[in-house]
Amino acid sequence: MNLVIGISFVCLILLITVTANTITPYVKIYDEDAAPYKEMPPLNLNPKEKEKQYWQDQAANTLEAKLKRKLNTNVAKNIIFFLGDGLSVTTITAARIYQGQLKNRSGEEEKLFFETFSDTGLSKTYCLDKQVADSACTATAYMCGVKANFQTIGVTGEVEVSDCEKAKLESNRVSSILKWSQDAGKATGVVTTARVTHASPAGCYAHVPFRDMESDGDIEKYKLDQNSCNFDIAKQLIYEDPGKNINVIMGGGRGKFLPKDEKNSTYGSGSRLDKNLIEEWKNDKALRKANAVYVSNITELKQVDPTKTDYLLGLFATSHMNYNLEKKPEEPTLTEMTEMAIKILQKNPNGFYLFVEGAKIDMAHHEDAARMALDETLQFAEAIEKAYSLTKEEDTLIVVTADHAHTMTMSGYPDRGYNILGLFGKSKDNLPYSTLSYANGPGYHMEKAPGVRFNLENDHLDEHNYTYPALVPKYYESHGGDDVAVYANGPWSHLFSGNYEQNYIPIAEAYAAGISPSNSKISPRNSVARTSATTSVVFLFIFNFIFSVFFKKLNFFAI
Ligand SMILES: *[C@@H]1O[C@H](CO)[C@@H](O)[C@H](O)[C@H]1NC(C)=O
Ligand SMILES: *[C@@H]1O[C@H](CO)[C@@H](O)[C@H](O)[C@H]1NC(C)=O
Ligand SMILES: *[C@@H]1O[C@H](CO)[C@@H](O)[C@H](O)[C@H]1NC(C)=O
Ligand SMILES: *[C@@H]1O[C@H](CO)[C@@H](O)[C@H](O)[C@H]1NC(C)=O
Ligand SMILES: [Zn+2]
Repeated sequence: MNLVIGISFVCLILLITVTANTITPYVKIYDEDAAPYKEMPPLNLNPKEKEKQYWQDQAANTLEAKLKRKLNTNVAKNIIFFLGDGLSVTTITAARIYQGQLKNRSGEEEKLFFETFSDTGLSKTYCLDKQVADSACTATAYMCGVKANFQTIGVTGEVEVSDCEKAKLESNRVSSILKWSQDAGKATGVVTTARVTHASPAGCYAHVPFRDMESDGDIEKYKLDQNSCNFDIAKQLIYEDPGKNINVIMGGGRGKFLPKDEKNSTYGSGSRLDKNLIEEWKNDKALRKANAVYVSNITELKQVDPTKTDYLLGLFATSHMNYNLEKKPEEPTLTEMTEMAIKILQKNPNGFYLFVEGAKIDMAHHEDAARMALDETLQFAEAIEKAYSLTKEEDTLIVVTADHAHTMTMSGYPDRGYNILGLFGKSKDNLPYSTLSYANGPGYHMEKAPGVRFNLENDHLDEHNYTYPALVPKYYESHGGDDVAVYANGPWSHLFSGNYEQNYIPIAEAYAAGISPSNSKISPRNSVARTSATTSVVFLFIFNFIFSVFFKKLNFFAI
């Protein structure tokens, strides 16, 4: 009898073991990656990582810093808003590893400069009519505080794409925090590596129902109505408020300001049908007797004296500026432009608002060119570090975020310190796959035969512009719909923690600066502070009166 029970028990255990093994798919996946494809030896890791004390100390230090922290509730005299176009969370993770590996470190433990900022949040990027947003509707959200339709800028959701009549109505237009800053007497600036008329910078100053109406030539090209749509973005920047009052404008896009027949000039080729808007900008500043300079290359930029310049227009390329890895010697870097902008704007005693865009992160992702996207992210981080070094935490709020994500993913089980831009995993077809890949885009490789995946083994992943693999073929990789991170440092940076809609960003920035967004329900911080100061004074006088009655002393202040 005991024997029967014993045998049944052993059988039961065996059955459970066998079942458990067959229903656990993880074991199978792990088997494929257990003999991965490796193209380089792993980097040496810090041996201390194996000791528990190392991790306990590291965590304790982080905790201690958080407990010691005193919230900064000063007025943000200056705001610098850094937009990493398409800077998804995956891009940040991969870029920090890349940054470490460029210094021969394993990389995962690295921090990009802005990752040291005191507060982090997540922003929801969808626009009114799309789950996955573009740079136009998102610019309306993070600059004007209002969500809008895909491809529209500085207008409400009443305006459908290309509806010029509706976009013209003042009641359908929304102003940006750059405009609110000007109204508060602050200096303002716009710096980008894209055309200065591109969607993100246009969010600072333009109101259009279609992001591509950058010049009057574009209005013709896209067959929009020439009469009702006669307010292209470049024109708004040069003639309208707040565009014509922006102190510093730097980036690419010269062609949107120059006439078609200007090909003969030193300016380069243009696409306008009306006139030379660079000359118009110079004339306007001359009429105002302002110290204004126009520059078109790094040599000229370096000659600008920021102490003597109130207006600077720098257009360094006909279209977008080049990728850092393909930079022409005459082009300045994002850091050089940021430095000059801050030095000019800092002269205003009321402070400044500066918008800085790392635009090429997005453009590299659209090409599935992961290495260039990571390199542009490092350029962006360097510009932020420069801005931080030129300002003070006491009075300058720096906010770093993205407009939307991208489809790059980081996957497989690569070893610690393994080349982030390399091939590591091996799939069930026994072919290697790259750690970084895209959901769609030009990196789609046709199968050699049905069911046979493209072999990446002989590809040149070390080329600066290598097109990383994509699942779905598209000429242009698409944006991603996931939330993007927000990093903040300086006065009221704690307002940026949590998860919120993207249009909250300029409202929180305005509050920190004590400036008023038009039609805001919330009083700016300054008046809140003033109200409580007034209340305190009133209470002090009441207290003084009671004190003098009870203690028969004339004045409490006298003791
Ligand atoms: C990293 O190591 C490589 C090869 O050992 C060397 O050529 C390179 O100079 C090193 N780079 C740095 C930043 O130390
Ligand atoms: C360029 O050509 C236009 C018309 O063809 C002419 O009016 C203009 O003066 C020329 N500019 C220069 C700098 O030569
Ligand atoms: C910069 O622009 C000026 C004026 O157009 C030109 O004379 C100079 O050669 C340019 N320098 C470079 C490095 O491109
Ligand atoms: C990468 O750049 C090289 C020149 O450096 C060029 O010949 C090649 O076509 C580019 N590849 C892609 C995919 O853009
Ligand atoms: Zn894009």
